[in-house]
Amino acid sequence: MNDLVFSGVQPTNQLHLGNYIGALKQWVPIQHDHRCLFCIVDLHAITVPQEPRELRQNILDVAAAYLASGIDPKRSTIFVQSEVPEHAELGWIMGTLTKMGELERMTQFKDKSAKGGMGRAGAGLFTYPALMAADILLYDTSAVPVGEDQMQHLELARVLARRFNERFGETFQIPQALIQKHGARIMSLQDPSKKMSKSDPSDTSKILLSDTADIIRKKIMRAVTDTAGGVTYDADKKPAVANLMTIYHQVTGLTMKQIETEFDGKGYGDFKKALAEAVVAHLEPITKRMQEFRSDPHELLRILDNGRERAQLLAAEKMKLVRSRVGLGR
Ligand code: TYM
Repeated sequence: MNDLVFSGVQPTNQLHLGNYIGALKQWVPIQHDHRCLFCIVDLHAITVPQEPRELRQNILDVAAAYLASGIDPKRSTIFVQSEVPEHAELGWIMGTLTKMGELERMTQFKDKSAKGGMGRAGAGLFTYPALMAADILLYDTSAVPVGEDQMQHLELARVLARRFNERFGETFQIPQALIQKHGARIMSLQDPSKKMSKSDPSDTSKILLSDTADIIRKKIMRAVTDTAGGVTYDADKKPAVANLMTIYHQVTGLTMKQIETEFDGKGYGDFKKALAEAVVAHLEPITKRMQEFRSDPHELLRILDNGRERAQLLAAEKMKLVRSRVGLGR
């Protein structure tokens, strides 16, 4: 049994609190007892148009965010997806095993292609989940810590691993998702029925890892609450407050019960003030470390070079086996 953990983030726009809580923050403790690979998935990013110069900056921003959040490059491998070409190669093979119907059912594709219609969406956006399956399966990953929005993609990766194994013989490990109880789906601060999203045009809907303390405070004080009062956790009846409590739980480590006790008899104003200070206290050192890493690109590039070498060794060996199983090459 392999105990390898793999996850990734797309280098598109600035990372937000949902990415941090749903993914990065969850990764940090795992690296103490697992071999981990954390990838910056730039091939996924280009499934929607990216400005090349911005993309290159975003790749370094994400690397800095990983490190600033506490990913230790001595323990974990941090690398850029496109620098290990085996991802694209296995992505192609996975695409040949994937059914159109399976891809059509993917909610992320439906959402992202909704505006222009399916006929105008890029083929890469459509086959994206096959590439994601390749990312995971290439390393015999056993666990994938992600937010809830990636569950459907992960389920497809499991299906494809089984399909490949049945057809070509035991080759891939079947990966499991690692999803947190509270924090797998952080919602928009302006609309608790929508997830916090990089592509949301509303600035106040999301807290960015690059936001200053004052901006964080303003966004939290402007966050919507529910008509029913009281800081009690009820995701169905009070979704906005449940979301804010989830954020508070994540940045303080307090349980929902402890939070309810702390704010018993107090209003939303008091709760939001405490929440704003807790988020600022948690994110401020991370934002500062991100800036430090960004101001030393040589160190960042050295870490990414190192990561590429480590990932490349594993990927090359696995692809040799995959090619021979499929009958590719001579
Ligand atoms: P991406 O870049 O959209 O998001 C990165 C991570 O952040 C999580 N996330 C959230 N978690 C909680 N609340 C939210 N509002 C929220 N928004 C985003 C995502 O679930 C994810 O864990 N397809 C992936 C990238 C990918 C990948 C992989 C992940 C490519 N290959 C292999 C894992 C393994 C994506 O688009 O994530």
